[in-house]
This record gives sequence, structure tokens and C-alpha cells, in this order.
Amino acid sequence: MSPLPNMIDPFGRHVEYLRVSVTDRCDFRCVYCMAEDMTFLPKRDLLTLEELDRLCSAFVDKGVRKLRLTGGEPLVRKNIMTLFQSLSRHLVSGALQELTLTTNGSQLAKYAQQLADCGVERVNVSIDTLDHDKFHKITRWGQLGKVMEGLEAARKAGLAVKINAVALKGVNEHEIDSMMNWAHGEGFDLTLIETMPLGEIEEDRTDQYLPLSLVRRRLEEKYTLTEIPYKTGGPARYLEVAETGGRLGLITPLTHNFCESCNRVRVTCTGTLYMCLGQDDAADLRTPLRASESNDEIYAAIDEAIGRKPKGHDFVIERQGEKAAVGRHMSVTGG
Ligand code: 5AD
Ligand code: SF4
Repeated sequence: MSPLPNMIDPFGRHVEYLRVSVTDRCDFRCVYCMAEDMTFLPKRDLLTLEELDRLCSAFVDKGVRKLRLTGGEPLVRKNIMTLFQSLSRHLVSGALQELTLTTNGSQLAKYAQQLADCGVERVNVSIDTLDHDKFHKITRWGQLGKVMEGLEAARKAGLAVKINAVALKGVNEHEIDSMMNWAHGEGFDLTLIETMPLGEIEEDRTDQYLPLSLVRRRLEEKYTLTEIPYKTGGPARYLEVAETGGRLGLITPLTHNFCESCNRVRVTCTGTLYMCLGQDDAADLRTPLRASESNDEIYAAIDEAIGRKPKGHDFVIERQGEKAAVGRHMSVTGG
């Protein structure tokens, strides 16, 4: 059986973008993302790198054009470069338009060149502050200096860099202006993200939530922001900043729902397919993957799951208070 060529959900949205969390582990413990004493999946539950390759390739057969490896921190998974290397054949064949990753940057100094050699052209690096002490407080375990070395290596390797920063009330709230100037000065795009209620953490998310509508109004007092049609296939809307000549992306799951144009699904490192970041419904792909050597059962399971992709999430921070909208952390589903 050849796979049905495309994945189209009940709302007519074409699914062309797959994000794969290759590990739920991370060498940081960002306060909005993880609890300090996270329990991780036992290693035996993980798909092997060969299985991940097969699953990703099945999605490429099904029309995925853009593949992002995430985590947790993708670069802490052992031998992860072999997965990038094998997936790069889909870039060479033209089946895949883009192979990329989201990383905390801690291992980028080591891997930037190898990533570029695999055909990776852009990386998203998460940095929420440029203050070394604050960085250590937010990430609990991270060192900003290491990440900066990673950025330098990315530049040397010719990788385009986008900085992702979660907007955090009272934490980086008054630093956004300077972060933007720094990023644009370095030739990096900067994208701001609203905190989403994903997974239980020690702190109250209501205390962390900073609406980007407010950030934008504040920036507009000093800068000329123009909406531009630039798209990278993700949920960010982009503004051009006249004064810096750079691009500022806004990911606003709370103040402005972007689900109507959703083109994404996510797979976890155990082979669970989530059709929406903000909903619990999922499909098990590990069983069909392991059931036979042919991909037919995987294609059928994917089709069945896409057929019930929900319309969208309904994150609300105020009303939920401390309780998470979905129980799993971002590190499980993948950012
Ligand atoms: N809300 C918003 N962004 C989050 N990230 C992790 N957890 C959350 C959350 N609850 C971000 C990270 C990284 C990306 C993978 O997701 O900072 O930039
Ligand atoms: Fe790790 Fe990213 Fe979560 Fe921070 S936000 S703990 S870097 S997965």
C-alpha cells in the first residue's frame, strides 16, 4: 500500500510540519518548564534512533516538508548526530525542505559544524536573559557563557540563528529591549513566547505570565514596528523593527490564538503522536512501528489520528491559576 500523499485534517489544514522530541531529558531545569526534581522516562521506553528515523521518514512519506528535532534538549541524546545524518538524505532527495532543531545551546559549540554538515541551515536557541546570574536562576543549571560559545560556533558554521525568549513577568520584562538590540546587532531574529500552562512546576504560572500585547505596546513607545508577512512555518507572527533593521517574532498562544493556521503535529520520544500541543488526545505510533517491518500500519495510524486533530488549544492562565492545562511538560511533547 502506498501512503495517501497528504495529511489534511478535518478543518482543511495541511499538516506539513513535524516536531519530534528525541528525549525528554535536559541539562537545564528552566523554572517555567520543569520541576527541579523531574522524573524522566526510563531509557527502555524510548524509541531507538533507528526507530525515530523510520518514524520521521514515514511522516516525510506522508507529506511532512519541515522537520524539527526538539526535546528536552535534543543534543543531550547519545549519538544524536547519527539521526541528523540519516535524516539528511531526505534533504538531498528534496522530499524535505528543512531539517532543524530547537536547542538550549549548551552543546552547540560541540555540534554546530556537524549540524551544518547534515544540511541544517537554521537553529532556534532558547535564551531568556543576557544577565549571567539571572540566566543561572532561570535555567537552574545553565551557564550563559557556554551558550554564547555555542552561538559563536553556529555563526562560524554558517547557521542562521533565531533566539527564542519566553517573556517572564518581573524576570526579563525590562530586558526585552536590550535583548532585541543585542540579537539584531548579532544578525539573529528574536522571537518572544508567552508562557503556556504545560506541566506542573513549583511556581505559580500566573506570576510568570507576561502578555506580549503589553510588551508590544511598550516597545512601540520607542520603536517603529511594522507587521510583515515573513513566515518560517511556525506559529510566530513577525514584525520588522525599523530602528534595528531586525525581525521580532511573537508567539502568542494566550493573547492571540494561532490555531487556525496550524500545520503541525508532534511526536514524543516514545512514539506518541500529539495532534495539538494544548490537548491530551494522542495516538500511539510505537505499536504499529514495532508490529511489522512495513510502514502500512504506521500510515494508517497517522491518517486515523490526523482525522481527529482538534481545532485548537484553549489555554487560559488566569482561570487555571496553578493548575496546568495539560499535564505533560513541554519537554515531553517538544517545543
Ligand atoms: N511555555 C512557553 N514556552 C516554553 N518553553 C518551555 N516550556 C514552556 C512553557 N511552559 C520554551 C523554551 C524553549 C522552547 C522549546 O519552549 O524556552 O524556547
Ligand atoms: Fe531544558 Fe528547554 Fe525546558 Fe529549559 S525550557 S529545561 S532548556 S527543555
